[in-house]
Amino acid sequence: MCSQSLPVRVSTGVKGLDDIIEGGLIPRRVYLVTGPPGSGKTTLSIQFLLQGAREGERGLYVSLIQKPEDVIMDMTRYDPSIVPYVRNRKILLYDLGPILWRESSKAPTWRSVLSRIKEVAEAAKITRLVIDPLTAIGFPDTFPAEKRTELARFIRKIEELGITAILVDEMTEMDRYREEHYLVSGIIMMHYFMHESRMIRAIQVLKMRGTNHDTDMKMMKFSKDGIVVFNRSPFEGMDEHGHGEGDGE
Ligand SMILES: Nc1ncnc2c1ncn2[C@@H]1O[C@H](COP(=O)(O)OP(=O)(O)OP(=O)(O)O)[C@@H](O)[C@H]1O
Ligand SMILES: [Mg+2]
Repeated sequence: MCSQSLPVRVSTGVKGLDDIIEGGLIPRRVYLVTGPPGSGKTTLSIQFLLQGAREGERGLYVSLIQKPEDVIMDMTRYDPSIVPYVRNRKILLYDLGPILWRESSKAPTWRSVLSRIKEVAEAAKITRLVIDPLTAIGFPDTFPAEKRTELARFIRKIEELGITAILVDEMTEMDRYREEHYLVSGIIMMHYFMHESRMIRAIQVLKMRGTNHDTDMKMMKFSKDGIVVFNRSPFEGMDEHGHGEGDGE
């Protein structure tokens, strides 16, 4: 499809992140958020749904491992504003893991996940979707080409449903890219690593189709507004305690 004007953007709900990706995500596309354990993937995804809810949209959080209620409870520890949106069903929680485990002892497939999401998406008219974590979706190794086709079909279907989606990817191998990395429209990488005996949090836009962005690591912090991104190096302005100027915002 060809459009002469620049595409409208949807806000990620993460302060500072929209600014480094030309205002937000291009809607009706599928994005990947990847990173090591505890790097903030789930928090960012929930902020994305919360932003939609604040703007009157309806979002769906599909959980494949953790109980979604626990995810929300953990979030409310820092930001209770999500609770009313869950209560009034602006954010829907879908504990899909156990449902699919009952159907088969094998890991859920793209096909099975898609058919369930499609049902809810059409009935509830959702415009934002999070699948957490994508890594729980298995695939028989017998036909690698088939994985690509299934995944491409999955992405195409989500886009056709008019949904902007974040797939949460657990980074298992730092130096190996998989099919999903090539097929999605954008990849946001969250970093959490040791540097000079301090843990550093950072965020990096690795790929964002149709967007002018740099690929540097950016400083990231948890604040009372959840994750906040600063357009500067994560190593900048650190004092001897490892705290930067933006702390406490
Ligand atoms: N508001 C906050 N202030 C300080 N720390 C926070 C805040 N919110 C979350 N955290 C910390 O950030 C960590 C990461 O949160 P999150 O669950 O989003 O990460 P994740 O990347 O999804 O992890 P996992 O791979 O285990 O699912 C938590 O373990 C918690 O310690
Ligand atoms: Mg998580």
